Amino acid sequence: MPLLQMQGICKSFNGISVLDNVSLQVKTGEVHALLGENGAGKSTLMNILTGSLRRDKGSIVFNGEHIEDNSIKQTEEKGIAFVHQELNLFNDLKVFENIFINKELTGFLGHLRKRDMISQCKELFLKLNVNIDPNVYVSSLKTSEKQLLEISKALFFKAKLLILDEPTTSLNQDEVAHLFEIVNALKKDGISFIFISHKMPEIFEYADSYTIFRNGQYIDSGAIKDTSPLEVTSKMVGKEQNNLNIYKKRDLGEVVLELDHLSGMGFNEVSFKARRGEIIGMTGLQGCGSSEVMQCIFGINPKISGDIRVKGKSIFIDSIHKAMRNGIALLPANRKENSVIPDLSILENMYIAEHTLSASKFHIQKDLELKRYQKQKNALSIKAQDPKMSILSLSGGNQQKVFIARWLNTNADILLFDNPNQGIDVGAKAEIYKLILDLAKSGKTILVNTLEIPELQKVADLCLVFFKGKVVKVLEHDEIDEHKIMMYSTNSMS
Ligand SMILES: Nc1ncnc2c1ncn2[C@@H]1O[C@H](COP(=O)(O)OP(=O)(O)OP(=O)(O)O)[C@@H](O)[C@H]1O
Ligand SMILES: [Mg+2]
Repeated sequence: MPLLQMQGICKSFNGISVLDNVSLQVKTGEVHALLGENGAGKSTLMNILTGSLRRDKGSIVFNGEHIEDNSIKQTEEKGIAFVHQELNLFNDLKVFENIFINKELTGFLGHLRKRDMISQCKELFLKLNVNIDPNVYVSSLKTSEKQLLEISKALFFKAKLLILDEPTTSLNQDEVAHLFEIVNALKKDGISFIFISHKMPEIFEYADSYTIFRNGQYIDSGAIKDTSPLEVTSKMVGKEQNNLNIYKKRDLGEVVLELDHLSGMGFNEVSFKARRGEIIGMTGLQGCGSSEVMQCIFGINPKISGDIRVKGKSIFIDSIHKAMRNGIALLPANRKENSVIPDLSILENMYIAEHTLSASKFHIQKDLELKRYQKQKNALSIKAQDPKMSILSLSGGNQQKVFIARWLNTNADILLFDNPNQGIDVGAKAEIYKLILDLAKSGKTILVNTLEIPELQKVADLCLVFFKGKVVKVLEHDEIDEHKIMMYSTNSMS
């Protein structure tokens, strides 16, 4: 008998069906990949499983027990844990406090048994081979450590099934490998995983079986060893995926952005020139400084020394507003923390940057905005029902597209894209590459920071490889190669 059997699940929002009679079956001790394009219904099904959404129809059997409409707490007690796409930790609490939140160990007078909690944490981390100090604040952890902390937290309370919703969007290859070392060890203890990811290589490396959804419908399931990335992808998108090389060398214009021996928090002496129409890729291991360079150009962190020149003029960027006024836009790396404004609607989220820039205008032209919204929605294939609904009603990938639109609306000439394809599905990724190339063709200057080398191979004219805050290698388009970049970014080139 499988560990989990979900059958005939239906769910609609405002009369629109997002899950139509879908099934999912997970065996004990396996990694089961749940696959589908943005908005296919993966996270919704998981929210139903964990009790944070009610299903309209269907049955769930877990560990031999029928699960009726249950609360999040009850599901947790039964052994199902959700490691969210957007991590749910309290940055202002310590690591051990996060693990024990709402489940604190107390003495008989009600006082907290801190020492016991810390030592139990240490014991668990040791067993899992996780190198985190229980006594530090969560805000000081790297994303990969936060991920491991969430998993540890679930295991601490004896989860039998862990849902990993896009756990690797901000992890580098080594961190992903470490994560799956832990997952593989846990599999041997009979723990199962539902693994949601848009990255084919890691699905084929780490998953045992798969289920595919398309537009809220069940399409197929089976063993990973019996299928191929091409087959899975075409089932996800419902047609053959054309993987044509869309890159073309273009004539570039004048220098638009120049960094001259720029140093700032996390990087040193970075120099390069970016021309009108040029796409420059930036890559390296997590923490290599490339993301910090973007933050400095956008006025989030101050420079320490060196110069930033825009269109030949040296400018001192001491605020985001100043960067925006100089025609610079940044799509930041961590969507939940830096892009999502949860209290605002889709439309408001899309226009907020533009409004900030034109704050002197007296009123907002709603009709015009709605018209432009429709245009962008089509151009970026954003799956959304009503632009007045909360941004949180969109799937992760579709939110990301709204934020791309947000920055395109500012008409900036210099676009900084930090990890632009986070949570974006294969089909949409191809659209985004095309969009980036089209933007470059229309005269924008674009920097793309990513850990995914195939992305750079598709779009970058030039690629800067970072190691410990410095550019250690500049590669021309034809030289961009996964292996080469790995060597430079780990400084193992002799
Ligand atoms: N609270 C809600 N109100 C209205 N629509 C919703 C709500 N939550 C989800 N949806 C819609 O349900 C559909 C499925 O979304 P879901 O988040 O499950 O997709 P997903 O497969 O996880 O996609 P992604 O890969 O982008 O994360 C989407 O069209 C989304 O807009
Ligand atoms: Mg999702």
